Amino acid sequence: MKLSVPHLAFSARRPGRAAVTAVVAAAALLTTGSMAGAAPAPLGAAAPPVEVAAAPDLPVANVKAHLTQFQSIATANGGNRAHGRAGYLASVNYVKGKLDAAGFTTTVQSFTSGGRTGYNLIADWPGGDPNQVVMAGSHLDSVTSGAGINDNGTGSAAVLEAALAVSRANYQPTKHLRFGWWGAEELGLVGSRYYVNSLSTANRARISGYLNFDMIGSPNPGYFVYDDDPTIERTFKDYFMGIGVPTEIETEGDGRSDHAPFKSAGIPVGGLFTGASRAKTAAQVTKWGGTSGQAFDRCYHSSCDTTSNINDTALDRNGDALAYAVWELSE
Ligand code: TRP
Ligand code: ZN
Repeated sequence: MKLSVPHLAFSARRPGRAAVTAVVAAAALLTTGSMAGAAPAPLGAAAPPVEVAAAPDLPVANVKAHLTQFQSIATANGGNRAHGRAGYLASVNYVKGKLDAAGFTTTVQSFTSGGRTGYNLIADWPGGDPNQVVMAGSHLDSVTSGAGINDNGTGSAAVLEAALAVSRANYQPTKHLRFGWWGAEELGLVGSRYYVNSLSTANRARISGYLNFDMIGSPNPGYFVYDDDPTIERTFKDYFMGIGVPTEIETEGDGRSDHAPFKSAGIPVGGLFTGASRAKTAAQVTKWGGTSGQAFDRCYHSSCDTTSNINDTALDRNGDALAYAVWELSE
């Protein structure tokens, strides 16, 4: 879904500027325009002119097409995409192929866990300030018991589609954009921890923020935002507020995904989540719909986590919020 709020309302170029202030400023500009009986004042009327590149609507059909590919990969490889199994490397190669064709500089970083080789995939978008790196990432591995389509084909597919959208738009933000797909999350955040540990102190300090996406299409969804870096959190909340969808703070296990190693290294983090095995309450059904007393994802870590285990609306909204945050935080 396309954000209907005028983009002007979010034209704060620097993270940290209060969104409310920006909205008021936008309203004032529009008022001035109509009082003058002319076209609305140009963006630069009350402030130095800044070109605003609006985040694109991330086509949910494209995100779902990636999920279909992950499902096919699992089906062809013993039913999973788990660390150390053929379905994992096939998933890496699928994502890497799309990124290479779109002009990203990709790196496959290998590591060993449990006697098996694991892989992280890193994709850098050429350009931007190397001292201000904005990262978005997701784990690409599943558990051995299933294909891992909600956990975490959804995050992996949406991050991939956001990267492809950057390429389609030839987006040239002020900051440097980097995307990551982590291996062996299901063994205890192994890949993401390996990546963070592999960075020099200087390169760690260059990362302005890390956005994590793990389970963003749960079939009985909630809309949870990580309560962490205030600017990142605000950016996601602004998006959901703009489309009229209430959010809650993520509480189903803080530190249970790949943002944790980044946070431990002092990097600002944030992210989105639509819920795992916890049950949706009656109050949550009132605000979001769905089924009370039922898990957000009844197929969490099981064999029924297939392409049938997805709420398309949740996937669409979270993908769009992801793209919005990548654009807003890097411009
Ligand atoms: N992959 C995570 C796990 O298996 C899923 C998860 C549970 C999660 N709780 C979370 C992801 C909270 C993000 C935030 O544990
Ligand atoms: Zn997960």
